[in-house]
Amino acid sequence: MDRIKGEIRWEFARSGPPEGFPAFHDIPIGRYVDKDFFELERRRLWNKVWVLAGRAEDIPEAGDYFTFDDLGPPIVVVRGRDLEIRAFYNTCRHRGAPVVRSAKGSARNLRCQYHGWTYDVDGGRLVSVPDERDFVGLCRQDRSLGMIGCEVWQGWVFVNQDPFAPTLREWFGPALDEMEELCGESLRVVSTHSQTIACNWKVTAEAFLEVYHFRHIHGRGAGGSETLLDSRGATMGLLPNGCSRMITPYSVSAAAATGMKDWSDWRHIVTPGFADITTVNDMFRCTSSAYSLFPNLITPVGAEGFPFLVFWPLDIKTTRLDWIFYAPKDWDGDEIPERWTRRIENFNLIMEEDRRNMEPMQRSLESPGSTGIPINYQERRIWHLHEQIDRTIGIEKIPGQLRVAQLLDPYVEKAGATAGAR
Ligand code: FES
Ligand SMILES: [Fe+2]
Repeated sequence: MDRIKGEIRWEFARSGPPEGFPAFHDIPIGRYVDKDFFELERRRLWNKVWVLAGRAEDIPEAGDYFTFDDLGPPIVVVRGRDLEIRAFYNTCRHRGAPVVRSAKGSARNLRCQYHGWTYDVDGGRLVSVPDERDFVGLCRQDRSLGMIGCEVWQGWVFVNQDPFAPTLREWFGPALDEMEELCGESLRVVSTHSQTIACNWKVTAEAFLEVYHFRHIHGRGAGGSETLLDSRGATMGLLPNGCSRMITPYSVSAAAATGMKDWSDWRHIVTPGFADITTVNDMFRCTSSAYSLFPNLITPVGAEGFPFLVFWPLDIKTTRLDWIFYAPKDWDGDEIPERWTRRIENFNLIMEEDRRNMEPMQRSLESPGSTGIPINYQERRIWHLHEQIDRTIGIEKIPGQLRVAQLLDPYVEKAGATAGAR
């Protein structure tokens, strides 16, 4: 916290980027509008990364499952008799029917409805085949459901289709360490929202990777003169593997409204009326703090609960943006208490301001008037995202005119480093 406070002071005081900071070339427009680039992402990025599939408490008992299709191929996530959670392609090894058809359910075995091939819930092993005598030379061992990577962190279930992928911890490690105190295990889903936005998925994600736009789009009062955050003090932490952190201090008026002397008066502020995640540090309580888990999950964290924003490309120019609120649930039943309804409504207003801005961008990016995207120093988390996209796809696989230069490695916070990258 002290280190980051120092970084914020430095950000306020600076008259330009730090000495020697690289000049970015324009981000090529093709990365948002070129079908070949989208195809590269589809074939070489989305099937190699860890993505959020759901929550472990939704499948508490052996045999409980939910389906997950957001990556494209249908997937089923199931808790085995050993209570481990695993993920399989939801594709029958007979003639390819989906094995499980409902979004959520419970079963002793996974039985395909078409001809009744049956798989166990532990390893997806084919355990029975009706009229097996009619198959010549069928080897059951060769016909298990395809298993894919599945790991649970603090109740969140992530899946990864790449058998050679690093573990979830190897990939997200430093961010997960810093988010540990959110005690995800004890949180529950408060509400889920979803919106389809007519633009490339990166346009949507990038809107949450900087606060340069904040006072222009989210300004309140006459002429947008009042804002909650002071973007001039925002500090960006570039974490390994395209992940990142952004800590933005409160504006003078927001600090005063919270009862702080100024932006740096970080204390253990508890929002009245909300159940509190007591382990959350004072910085998270007294700033806008957000993490990005590459490629498609961004979360503005907080002590009374917070949303995960998840970006799913439906096609090159259509994205589904989900936001799911998690909180310590101190009420019974599904009805959301008034205080939370209000909080969500306020958040949704900001989301709507972002959506209205993003939607017209795709057509304008496709226009001949669009020649390249210059990125500034305080937008460097966007560059960091693009660099990792290229590394994941494989730099040599990307046509030269569509690549971004690999520039930010010296600025990535490495394990054990004491000084943050600016
Ligand atoms: S397709 Fe599943 S049993 Fe035939
Ligand atoms: Fe925004």
